Amino acid sequence: MAQRIDAKDLNIYYGSFLAVSDVTMSIDPQSVTALIGPSGCGKSTFLRSLNRMHEVIPGARVEGTVAMDGVDLYGADVDPVAVRRQVGMVFQRPNPFPTMSIAENVLAGVRLNNKRISKGDAQDLVEQSLRHANLWNEVKDRLAKPGSGLSGGQQQRLCIARAIAVKPQVLLMDEPCSALDPISTLAIEDLIAQLKSEYTIVIVTHNMQQAARVSDRTGFFNLAGVGQPGRLVEIDATSTIFSSPTQQATEDYISGRFG
Ligand SMILES: Nc1ncnc2c1ncn2[C@@H]1O[C@H](COP(=O)(O)OP(=O)(O)OP(=O)(O)O)[C@@H](O)[C@H]1O
Ligand SMILES: [Mg+2]
Repeated sequence: MAQRIDAKDLNIYYGSFLAVSDVTMSIDPQSVTALIGPSGCGKSTFLRSLNRMHEVIPGARVEGTVAMDGVDLYGADVDPVAVRRQVGMVFQRPNPFPTMSIAENVLAGVRLNNKRISKGDAQDLVEQSLRHANLWNEVKDRLAKPGSGLSGGQQQRLCIARAIAVKPQVLLMDEPCSALDPISTLAIEDLIAQLKSEYTIVIVTHNMQQAARVSDRTGFFNLAGVGQPGRLVEIDATSTIFSSPTQQATEDYISGRFG
């Protein structure tokens, strides 16, 4: 089941560089939260702090708490690998394993987790995940062919199938459509709308129309200048952010007056 996320007083560092400062944000389960803001304001950094991917970079660290249904993901006895299983991630560029078949790509995350799985269960999981990702009909006759033989939009849906095959509760998507054509983009947006009945989804996007189309809530990040940390300026219902934000900086950004 989808989970509620509460980030509190988050400071996110690369070595001594404070990249994101003082973020407090609640993310509702079974909803889509969009994060927008100018390049370099820390959207990806914040996103990676939600599944403990940030700290894999040498010197990178996080202060503050990220609670999932009340349990701090940064607690002393929490296994980061378990967190990453619970909180899946999809990246900007579709990154299927090029030499693996479509079916093996779907199973890659499951295999990584060392889960023993019978051949029949594996086949079922492949079908179920690909159906969920809206890709089954397009690939069911070529499951043994390489994942790299798919179109960009299909590859991205394959990556989403791979992410959901491990049955996460939360899906983080970092600009998942930026490498895609408009038709594939709409396919992914439709998919996001379907997935939100089961998952908590956080999506970073530079596309305002996309944020407006897919999300329930939108958070605007900004930074005061180069070398300054990014901050969450405001977060609210998407309709409010795009019609009557409370902060001038948000208004300027969404209306394209950002300089
Ligand atoms: N691996 C890293 N090491 C050091 N600094 C980094 C690293 N990754 C990002 N940063 C810095 O952290 C800040 C936030 O970067 P981040 O990638 O989170 O921004 P973003 O909002 O996702 O930008 P974009 O919209 O361009 O993707 C930037 O100043 C960036 O240079
Ligand atoms: Mg980014």
